[in-house]
Amino acid sequence: MPFVMAIDQGTTSSRAILFRGDISIAASAQQEFPQHFPASGWVEHEPEDIWNSTLSTCRAAMEKAGARASDIAGIGITNQRETVVVWDRVSGQAIHRAIVWQDRRTADVCTRLKADGYEPMITDKTGLIVDPYFSGTKVAWLLDNVPGARARAERGELMFDTIDCYLLWRLSGGTVHATDATNASRTLLFNIHTGEWDDELLKLLRVPRSMLPEVKDSSAHFGDSAYELFGGSIAIRGIAGDQQAATIGQACFTPGMIKSTYGTGCFALLNTGATPVRSNNKLLTTIAYQLDGKRSYALEGSIFVAGSAVQWLRDGLGIIKHASETGPLADKSDSMQSVYLVPAFVGLGAPYWNPRVRGALFGMTRNTGPAELAHATLESVCYQTYDLWAAMRADWPDADAAPPVLRVDGGMTASDWTMQRLADLLDAPVDRPVIQETTALGAAYLAGLSAGVYPEPQKFADNWRLDRRFKPAMSAATRERKLAGWGRAVKGLLASDE
Ligand code: G3P
Repeated sequence: MPFVMAIDQGTTSSRAILFRGDISIAASAQQEFPQHFPASGWVEHEPEDIWNSTLSTCRAAMEKAGARASDIAGIGITNQRETVVVWDRVSGQAIHRAIVWQDRRTADVCTRLKADGYEPMITDKTGLIVDPYFSGTKVAWLLDNVPGARARAERGELMFDTIDCYLLWRLSGGTVHATDATNASRTLLFNIHTGEWDDELLKLLRVPRSMLPEVKDSSAHFGDSAYELFGGSIAIRGIAGDQQAATIGQACFTPGMIKSTYGTGCFALLNTGATPVRSNNKLLTTIAYQLDGKRSYALEGSIFVAGSAVQWLRDGLGIIKHASETGPLADKSDSMQSVYLVPAFVGLGAPYWNPRVRGALFGMTRNTGPAELAHATLESVCYQTYDLWAAMRADWPDADAAPPVLRVDGGMTASDWTMQRLADLLDAPVDRPVIQETTALGAAYLAGLSAGVYPEPQKFADNWRLDRRFKPAMSAATRERKLAGWGRAVKGLLASDE
């Protein structure tokens, strides 16, 4: 029975998971790599760290499963999205560290683009809003700030890569420069309606077309790995940005289905089918996947801080030793206190989109202590998800056609406390699947589909298994009181920027 190998190259670690032919997990390996913060709001990764950690986790997973290259039907790549590497196509050297999606250095450029009235045109074409989160302004920054880079790019010597594309280039021994439609849709340079790089956007952001990769389906034969990497060549058959891969891994193929993934941040996607839905509530319109040349779209809400707020409790405040202590600690909090954390550590994402504000605590008293902070931190993730949920329900014309359910995955979903509170605040069921590795599963599925070892989407969806459903149990009055308090806290924080 052949294996399929998923590479999940995330913001803080690289992982490889080998799935069997029956889509169960055979082996996995994970490696963290250093984060670089050269200035306030700047976040960078060393491309060699990304590559070396990816390669060694692939080899480690293969070794654990006793798999040879010839036993693997395909590799699927999923990745932290929007992060940018610029690369010299002849020397093979990156011209700078990768600029990470969280990086805010291009906030001023974005403010100018908005002030000059470009945002409506950009949103029409890309489905995105103008924010430093996306790749386009980061590429321009590299070309303008690395000595000689712009001239080299104009001579056709440099390549622009999102992380999937960079890994594909390295895996293929420097022979394939391609990406998939989901990753392209996060760059601010790609027209999600025509499925092509857009000349008007390239001109506006001053990115030479020669730098860009070919854009393919998410499930396709992208190329083959260089023989020497794994002692044999393996076909690379699937690529999707990590949130889109999680949407696939959660089998959200039917319009109206919603998933929310809790990693460093939280990203909720609502499948809207073949129609791109324009948000009136500051959500993004994005490509969910592209199969057989047909694009399926999603509305996306992106929150920058979720799991990283729990990390802050652990590493910043030292009030827990392990993330699993947070729920039990929150349970001990004083129910008479209403403490709200707005974790805007890197500004606020959807639906507020303010890159300048920073985090704040509201409602502290002399009795506020670790338990109340843990409580406020976990609830902040639920409140932020509520904001996305409410925006999606308002944007999606068929919102009331089917009873809404939220499918969840990612590290924080291990916390029953948080998932129950989420169901309470959404006033909707929250479904946690048996396979929690949904991001890697989605990438493996795309590769297995292309290799012909995994079934068509509907059959794959029939295999989705529920671990636990969290049902709402909070009274309407309590929920409304709590949501109103959250609304006031966010308003208060945003007012500090006026
Ligand atoms: O858009 C950013 C997202 O793709 C990062 O995901 O899981 O690495 O935090 P993650």
